[in-house]
Amino acid sequence: MCQITVLPSGLVFHEGKGTTLREVLVREGLLLDFPCGGRGLCGQCKIAIHPPTESGSRGRNPLPDAELQAGLRLACQTVVEGDCTISLPEGGEREVRWRAPSQQEETLLPVGAPLMRRVPLRLQAPSLEDQRADWERLREALEKAAWAQEGPRAQEGLGGRAGNGQERSCPTLEEVPVAALESFTELLRRNLWQAEAVLEGESLVCLSCSREERIYGFAIDLGTTTVDVSLHNLETGRQIGRRTLLNRQSAFGADVISRVQSFQADRRAVREAALDTIREACSLLLEEARIPPRQVVRSVVVGNPIMIHIFHDLNPLPLASAPYIPLVSGMIRRPATDFSFSFQGYGAVETLPLISAFVGADTVGVILALDLEHRAETALAIDIGTNGEIVLSRDGSLITTSTAAGPAFEGAQIRCGMRALEGAVTSVTIRTTGEVSVKTIGAGRPRGICGSGLISGVAELLEAGLLDATGRLKDPKQIDSSSLRQRMVQEEGQRAFLLCPEERILITQKDIRELQLAKAAVRTGIDMLLEETGIRAGQLQRLRLAGNFGAGLDVPKAIRLGLIPRLPVERVDVAGNAALRGAALALVSRDYRLRAGCVHRGCRFLELAGKPGFQMRFAEAMFF
Ligand code: FES
Repeated sequence: MCQITVLPSGLVFHEGKGTTLREVLVREGLLLDFPCGGRGLCGQCKIAIHPPTESGSRGRNPLPDAELQAGLRLACQTVVEGDCTISLPEGGEREVRWRAPSQQEETLLPVGAPLMRRVPLRLQAPSLEDQRADWERLREALEKAAWAQEGPRAQEGLGGRAGNGQERSCPTLEEVPVAALESFTELLRRNLWQAEAVLEGESLVCLSCSREERIYGFAIDLGTTTVDVSLHNLETGRQIGRRTLLNRQSAFGADVISRVQSFQADRRAVREAALDTIREACSLLLEEARIPPRQVVRSVVVGNPIMIHIFHDLNPLPLASAPYIPLVSGMIRRPATDFSFSFQGYGAVETLPLISAFVGADTVGVILALDLEHRAETALAIDIGTNGEIVLSRDGSLITTSTAAGPAFEGAQIRCGMRALEGAVTSVTIRTTGEVSVKTIGAGRPRGICGSGLISGVAELLEAGLLDATGRLKDPKQIDSSSLRQRMVQEEGQRAFLLCPEERILITQKDIRELQLAKAAVRTGIDMLLEETGIRAGQLQRLRLAGNFGAGLDVPKAIRLGLIPRLPVERVDVAGNAALRGAALALVSRDYRLRAGCVHRGCRFLELAGKPGFQMRFAEAMFF
């Protein structure tokens, strides 16, 4: 066995010869990005290794000699040959701490009709004369108590008649896991056959000793890049805490297509990476709030269609090739034990429905959170990530589409790109005097540029006349200001603008092309939705930017680049992670849960690829 020491954490692992460092890092949950899924193509998984090894020096995209001499290697191409120490790049942290102020969303949700109800129970103690089984005793007590408490309302629930007049049954053993049954009856014996039952519909999800014991649930946004989780009191709707972690699945590639490919090779590893991230985030929240898992009785998950398929261990392959058909598109409800969610006692885990193969449960969450299907106005909501999902609502009727924006908005495939973490440049100012300043997350030393920083930087380059409308960086000879001229440099055979000379953070010509492709994809989607519905951009009463990327966006600069239509800025607002909020609403509220089903049935999907004029519009939208 070889000993591998990982810096800066100092963690030590033991591994047999021949394993790749990528496999070790993924298995141990140390997050390094593997954007090409470990195929040696992107050169992004660099680590430093001591002593240096021949292995990993020749990936399919070999590193420059200077980097090799400095001991840098591609983790995905380097195999363990003996004891070694590896240094992960600065910023390998897993938690996403930064949020724009708009994301300090209100923490009290409108519960309306709650999904959960409590029924106080007083059971007859067993005796030689009454030898009913514990479960029968509990079941009959539940039935009686529910009738006594709710009268006719119990018809919707326990032991009554459903709306269609058919007899409905009490909970059956199939609905209550045997392990739960054992813990419930232990509690009853301990508590002298008195308890407080918590029911979701007909399902008994929790038995507690007292009314004071609260019940909780998790809303989970399973994103391609991050997993955003919030913990809620299910009866009041209050948010107890929130955590955002980088999705461990990133080790299998930055985009959903590489996840689909990796799933074919090792479905268990790909699924478990996502489930592990969820488990970690939820457990951290419970620990912080000192809440025992048995008090968690419900979880609602949203995500794009591929992530939802992987979550349920369904092969997402049919989603990735024509005619793009999901295996299932409705709401799915399963017991927490199916996911080995040790942070949840009993009760269900639900995923919200999908709208199409490209528009998922996360968009349903956005629609619920922004009340798009209820408001009497014309509004556009955009959730930008590696895909851009766009929803147009006119007086409650909904039409949606999805565009492949690519990873540029998340800082991937950008020369100095990084995710929106501490040290990422979020905003750039270029003054007419030639001074350049940047703002970073955490106000510390710049480490790279995230998506909103790239938008801001490119908009400033345009305004300063350093970039033309086709997206070409100007020849330094055409630039009057000497200080700006000095910042125009050559980087790997292409022009680049030096944003932070000390840290050598630059925006290259290729970065600008990547941004143009991403913004053209989103803008084409917006324009074609508007055209399909006969609405002019000026008629939009509101434009809502959802998602982590939207939260950090400088709206006037996004308008300047043509990412979104030219509208008065007061009509544009930033909604934070609306997908997560939508999941939280469906977590606590019966109304919102029902509405999710209506959105699934009522929202129309517009397929862009087959539309005449798509290519032409896309080409036009490339211009600034
Ligand atoms: S080169 Fe290693 S992940 Fe792409």
